[in-house]
Amino acid sequence: MKTEGMKVLVVGSGAREHVLWWAIKKSPRVACVLCAPGNGGIPPEYCRNVRENNNLLGLLHLVKEEKVDLVVVGPKAPLVDGIVDFFTEHNIAVFGPSEAAARIEGSKMFCKDLCQKVGVLTPDCQVVYNYRDAVKVIKNWGMPIVIKANGLCDGKGVTVALTEEKAIQAVHDLLVKKIHGEAGSIVVIERRVEGREYSLMAICDGDNALMLPPARDYKRLLDGDGGPNTGGMGAYSSQDLISYDLLQCLKRSVILPILHGLADEGSPYHGVLYAGIMLTREGTQLLECNCRFGDPETQVVVPRLKTDIVDLMLGSLTRGGLVNFDEIKVSPRAAVCVVAASEGYPEKPVTGFPVTLPSETSDHRGCTLFFSAGIKRDEHGKLVTSGGRVASVVGISKSVQAARKRAYDGIKEIEFKGIQFRSDIARPI
Ligand code: GLY
Repeated sequence: MKTEGMKVLVVGSGAREHVLWWAIKKSPRVACVLCAPGNGGIPPEYCRNVRENNNLLGLLHLVKEEKVDLVVVGPKAPLVDGIVDFFTEHNIAVFGPSEAAARIEGSKMFCKDLCQKVGVLTPDCQVVYNYRDAVKVIKNWGMPIVIKANGLCDGKGVTVALTEEKAIQAVHDLLVKKIHGEAGSIVVIERRVEGREYSLMAICDGDNALMLPPARDYKRLLDGDGGPNTGGMGAYSSQDLISYDLLQCLKRSVILPILHGLADEGSPYHGVLYAGIMLTREGTQLLECNCRFGDPETQVVVPRLKTDIVDLMLGSLTRGGLVNFDEIKVSPRAAVCVVAASEGYPEKPVTGFPVTLPSETSDHRGCTLFFSAGIKRDEHGKLVTSGGRVASVVGISKSVQAARKRAYDGIKEIEFKGIQFRSDIARPI
């Protein structure tokens, strides 16, 4: 495989993919980075829309026509659906886990079972297959409780219920109304645990893991963690978020057991393994595992990397390919990301409004703009809102508070009708 003068294709359309496109483009190994479909923030000459075909065949055609050397897949859905297996069968290098390994995100039940086998602590849970059993568990357990659809529901399959009424409504929606179809036909009911949440990500080669810098994300819409869950309203990452020793301890107690458990059961994991953990009084609890880069964590983690991200991706492709790698080098600077979203997000975003940016170039007085799927160019080439999350503004500086100021100074210069963003991202507690 060609490893110099490479052509890379990033699959996806969110801010995460915009960051990956931006970071990969900087690699000395890379001559060109395309993005399919990309979004309004990535220059149109690099975006390729293959939606009109069956997506996989369309992508394969694109990869062959453009002579792409490496495919990097951002979102979970194609990974869970087997895009890596598909490209591997066609002898195309692809960064990400196989369909079997991606079950770690595609099935909550699979993840829970694996954790139990390998001794990773997760909140107590009960799996239910029908409404009657679900109600029984809810009444026996009491509140608060977390209701999770087993499969992928576009980020809308988790309800944190503080009241019995809300819990019963959630299982009714999933098991009776079937609002998420098959993905919600099995439900995992989990006890809610209290503590501080962190996002860990590691680049994995089936056996070895290299830890990326940890981050914190903000999932709720409103300040103070109020309002509904979203795809993420902000994040930050800094060198003092988790100490080096604790990060290594979390690697040994969470990441490696899962990685080795997957290898032992014949599904070696390649790509980014994401663990959402909570540090509680009873120890570290794994809340969720994802089979990809987190969003918006990527916006604050990747800009801090000093190690070439393409070297890491290439190392992860083959079993044991990272064994001789040094630990990932990270800038001591902090990064804070604030997400600008449309009015009505996440339920019903109101879109179609012109977007004014501080500058259409990416780097702007110490803050960088990454665009989400909710922005597009209209027929005149002007940026307009087209979905829920519109842009991620990332401030980078020597301290979290200085980075936070840069991010908020930047977001205040973005204008579109109905803009909403949280004002407490990375605010000191
Ligand atoms: N920020 C959580 C996720 O990417 O799923």
